[in-house]
Amino acid sequence: MNALFNKDTQAIFWNNNMPAIQRMLDYDFTIQKAKPSIVAIVAPTSNNKFEKLFYGGDEVMIPVFTTLQHARDAFKQADVLVNFGSFRRAYDVSMKALQIGGFKTIMVTAEGIPERLARRMNFEARKIGVTIIGPATAGAITPGAFRTGNIGGTIDNVINSKLTRAGSCGLVTRSGGLINELANILAINADGVAEGVAIGGDRYVGSVFIDHLLRMEANPQVKYMVLLGEVGGVEEYKVIEAVKSGKIKKPLIAWCIGTIAKHFSSGVQFGHAGASANAEQETAAAKNQAMRAIGIHVPNTFNDLPLMIHEVYTRLKNDGSIVEVEEMPYNIIPETRKSKSFICTISDDRGEEAMYAGYPISSVATPDTGFNIGDVISLLWFKKRYPRWATNFIETVLKTVADHGPAVSGALNAKVTARAGKSVVESLVTGLLTIGPRFGGAIDGAAKYFKYAHDQELSPQEFLQYMKEQKITIPGIGHRIKSLRNPDKRVEGLKQFANEFFPQTALLDYALEVEQLTTSKKDNLILNVDGTVGILMVDMWRSLGYNEEEINTLIETGVMNSFFILGRTIGFIGHILDEKRLQMPMYRHPYSDILYDVATAEQI
Ligand code: ACO
Ligand code: LMR
Repeated sequence: MNALFNKDTQAIFWNNNMPAIQRMLDYDFTIQKAKPSIVAIVAPTSNNKFEKLFYGGDEVMIPVFTTLQHARDAFKQADVLVNFGSFRRAYDVSMKALQIGGFKTIMVTAEGIPERLARRMNFEARKIGVTIIGPATAGAITPGAFRTGNIGGTIDNVINSKLTRAGSCGLVTRSGGLINELANILAINADGVAEGVAIGGDRYVGSVFIDHLLRMEANPQVKYMVLLGEVGGVEEYKVIEAVKSGKIKKPLIAWCIGTIAKHFSSGVQFGHAGASANAEQETAAAKNQAMRAIGIHVPNTFNDLPLMIHEVYTRLKNDGSIVEVEEMPYNIIPETRKSKSFICTISDDRGEEAMYAGYPISSVATPDTGFNIGDVISLLWFKKRYPRWATNFIETVLKTVADHGPAVSGALNAKVTARAGKSVVESLVTGLLTIGPRFGGAIDGAAKYFKYAHDQELSPQEFLQYMKEQKITIPGIGHRIKSLRNPDKRVEGLKQFANEFFPQTALLDYALEVEQLTTSKKDNLILNVDGTVGILMVDMWRSLGYNEEEINTLIETGVMNSFFILGRTIGFIGHILDEKRLQMPMYRHPYSDILYDVATAEQI
């Protein structure tokens, strides 16, 4: 608990800053983590569902969410937020994270957040025990476990500075650049870093030196500490108090940079917003002197710091407080990496036997496996194993829509094409291309509009009015030959199946109320087979626990019509084979069946 991070730490990354995310993944791979520590990216304006990043030489997909709440809901175990929002967004993002809850650490990289807002953010976080690192920081690192963003620098630097495994030093700085420098010094003169935090360069940062030093005091991995302070502010005096009162007992080496300021006649503002002395006690020289006076190891100049580190480290090693660190193996990132052109998330043919969503074909193909075609569809289309009632429903739909005779639009086109001497596939494609919003392809539209009306709690009357205003014929309503007097038995069958096996049929119940209104106007305006399939698929997915957004996404992909496409393929092939078997000649439509109304040349 005393370390900020461990090997299992998982983070949500706010902003699709690919270079920074890639650097975090490179670190994870280098230290031989099995999986990347970033589980989700939040990018409010992204249309991407995922980002593809390298993990070593391979690539991985990291899901992208447009809101922090959605990312959090999907990855409840992620307790670190790496907030790479700009100074305009970083405050809102952090406040949202505090409100959502569940984050233990929030790293805020942006520089220049208005100080008033930074103070409020820090106050709110402290109130509920959340550690904010930053603003204006490269973040923190627990070597061998986790790092935020680019702290530690390039992977070469990480390796050279032995940041691939835990050493003995608890290191706290303001600056991200200097933490890298110090890590290097610690690797050369001692055994490296146990934990490093760059608290950030702004005047008001969330967590300060003393917060981390006290935490490190309690962390058994940390045997001694190095504090690199800066001109400006009084945070170092809190550390002095803690040493005085005995709260900090571990050896502490410290240096405040900015001693050069005394050589200038007027006050100097260094690179960080907080690096400017407003009073004598805020100067680097005064702070170094005060720290030295209380027994903190303070060198005479920054140049002497490595030697002092070496001395303290050697003493601790000699008295047995530090045992030799076991060097850990690490991975090397391949020099050249090639991004893959295609992605497949449903099946894999590289092993001995191809797999459907992880299931070898032999485990699903034969009757003894107990899998039916609905199971295969649930694996290959939805990457899930559906319960028996749902796979049976899918199979029932396919059998129900397999054919509806030779006279329907698509079958007729397939037949005519076959009679023109075209192959099975050409004739089939012709039939399939006929499927559209009026014929067989109204399933997506029915699901979309009925679900919309239901979600919006429109009454059936309001729904009809809404569709009228949109000038849209209601998909899933109406049939050329079926009506109240000549009911569609297929619809009856599907409804019966749902009533018997579905846990709930809320959308069907709603659609039947709509049907009562439409059929009161015209008796063929029944809920047709397309409509029934689309609506019951929504009821099925709701019953299976899909959330509304997931269902909307499924509808948008056009998967609903796919049930008709797949089922009707059986019938079309039947009609094409029929034509071939009968060796029917080329078809020509009779003049008598066409109304010719062509103007004469003179008229034109
Ligand atoms: N919503 C609202 N009004 C409708 C609908 C509908 N879905 N369907 C027909 N009407 C109205 C028409 O506006 C027209 O009104 P009007 O007489 O006041 O001008 C009247 O009913 C007749 O319209 P037609 O297009 O001549 O109706 P027809 O019975 O020939 O059409 C069809 C059948 C094409 C299926 C039609 O109902 C429709 O477009 N439905 C929506 C699409 C659909 O669900 N298709 C799938 C059918 S099932 C299958 O293909 C497997
Ligand atoms: C079908 O399934 O093809 C039919 O509902 C359409 C039709 O015209 O009968």
